[in-house]
Amino acid sequence: MSYSYGKHEHMCGIIAGVTLENNITAPLLKQLKKLEYRGYDSAGVATICKETGALHVKHNTDSIESLMLDAQTMPKATIGIAHTRWATHGQVSLNNAHPHIAEDRIALVHNGIIENHEALKESLSGEGIAWRSQTDSEVIAHLINFQLKKGLNITSAIENTTQQLQGTYALAIIDKKTPESIYIIAHESSLILAKSDDATFISSDQNAVTSEATQACTVPKDIIFNISATKIQSERAHPKLDWHPIQKTKNHHSEQTESSITYQEIKEQESVLKGLIDTHISKEGNIEINKTLSFLLKDTKRILMIACGSSYYCAQTGKYWLERIAKMPVSVELASEFRYRSPVIEKDTTLITLSQSGETLDTISAKRYLKEHHPEIKSISIGNNTLSTLAQESDYFWYTHAGPEVGVATTKVFTAQLFCLACLCGHLTENKNQKNTLTKTLRALPEWIREVCKKERQIESIAAELAPDSAVLFCGRSESYPIAQEAALKLKELAYVHAQAYAAGELKHGPLALIEPSLTTVFFVNQDLFLEKIKSNISEVLSRKGKVLLIGPAPALATIKPNKNITKLTTTEKAPPEQIAAFTNVVCAQLLTYHIAKSKNCAIDKPRNLAKCVTVE
Ligand code: M6R
Repeated sequence: MSYSYGKHEHMCGIIAGVTLENNITAPLLKQLKKLEYRGYDSAGVATICKETGALHVKHNTDSIESLMLDAQTMPKATIGIAHTRWATHGQVSLNNAHPHIAEDRIALVHNGIIENHEALKESLSGEGIAWRSQTDSEVIAHLINFQLKKGLNITSAIENTTQQLQGTYALAIIDKKTPESIYIIAHESSLILAKSDDATFISSDQNAVTSEATQACTVPKDIIFNISATKIQSERAHPKLDWHPIQKTKNHHSEQTESSITYQEIKEQESVLKGLIDTHISKEGNIEINKTLSFLLKDTKRILMIACGSSYYCAQTGKYWLERIAKMPVSVELASEFRYRSPVIEKDTTLITLSQSGETLDTISAKRYLKEHHPEIKSISIGNNTLSTLAQESDYFWYTHAGPEVGVATTKVFTAQLFCLACLCGHLTENKNQKNTLTKTLRALPEWIREVCKKERQIESIAAELAPDSAVLFCGRSESYPIAQEAALKLKELAYVHAQAYAAGELKHGPLALIEPSLTTVFFVNQDLFLEKIKSNISEVLSRKGKVLLIGPAPALATIKPNKNITKLTTTEKAPPEQIAAFTNVVCAQLLTYHIAKSKNCAIDKPRNLAKCVTVE
């Protein structure tokens, strides 16, 4: 049977490490656990025992905790590689789990897609190889081993092998014959290097190594590195490694706590926003953005934002502000559609990609497409990963400083990205009064968020009422429409409830046919220009006997007459200024969907079928 195996190896997590101490396995698996959000269908680890020189391997399809238990029987080692995998097609099985081994000598972990793996397997058909897996990755291990058997040294064997590979790969390889080194290479699939005083680590992203390492850098493309505990060498090239201190944030959740990571990340938003305010709003109340960013924006006539998922809804929200307040023309595009549409780009457009991970392949590909066809375009990327591909490839990377976000569903990075867009809006606004009002407004943001979080009891009891429902509609007008879309996405992801979002004015164009007593329609109701209009939309649902949940500040909710079919969820006692409502509404929606998911016992931090870093198209 033949499957399209390549794709399901691409969103996985790699961690490898070499230390002077004889104890790499436990820290490696602890770090692997932090990469679990990249995929968690199976996992594995391979080490070389210093004393005996033997290669030891464990695979597991239960959980990383279970792999940790298994690994306790492994002999001590100074060197190891580990992997966590995410499957979209094909089986989740022990045999498909990495590391892949060739003849008890080579072990490797791979992220990426080897497009010509079938032809390569065929080329080894005379070698009598007993193939263990159905993956594309295993062929790399056997190709390297084949080169070694021909007499090449390990670096040349890897070089010769990678020259034959078509596709994308990040590889960490160990060889029993050189037990002090890990060999790595990254081709269109990112890897980072991180170091502490006595160890060097290689990882898919820096989230895994924040506790152990102090400095990190991106692995330059297409160069084979030989990594030992004290040296990072490359035989063929001598690139300068651009080391950065690793940001240890005080927001990072405690690993000991029992509650969900996603919940903690929702609760961290107040402090993340405080940090962003300190960075971006001066004591005098001016918006302070980086000089390079300001320079890139100088002659901008229009902004094109490209993103996926929640980042896309964030961009949509920002579009309302940028057009209304800064009078800047903005278009927002789904990355997965963009480059297949032959888009027409006008002169003096600035590109902004939004991506929490900075590794979303759709967004990266859309950006590369644009740069290829319009090399003159300036590119800004807003995200939370300083060493990511988008951060490296953009003219300016706007870091959201949210601390590692581990929950698969984004929460705190969403509001951090939204904050950056609000600052961008302030920066581009020429009207001084509007500029001042906006900065003043943003300064008070953390208090508004705190107030929403204080309403948690009320949110929890409404969540309990909504939990049995099998579908929910979310509606809003203006920037509450993308917020409704984000709320619907959160409900789908966290609680597995079918949810759809509509611009409230669209209800009458079709969705009203769905209204019946068992369906709840959630409306975001703000004290704004659209209050009267949204009240009409609410009436449309009520008159068809639908249930209604209203989310908004007390003064806006008070204008709506009580009705047995209406439940009101107050976000704040006073009506917040217009840019704040998007933040208070989205935080309320995060808490609501979290509590619905909790009451249904869903895997909130790792929703089924999803991965945090979506590096497939
Ligand atoms: O890392 P990115 O922001 O590029 O990710 C984009 C989407 O995959 C992401 O927002 C996804 O929709 C999340 N699961 C939302 O919670």
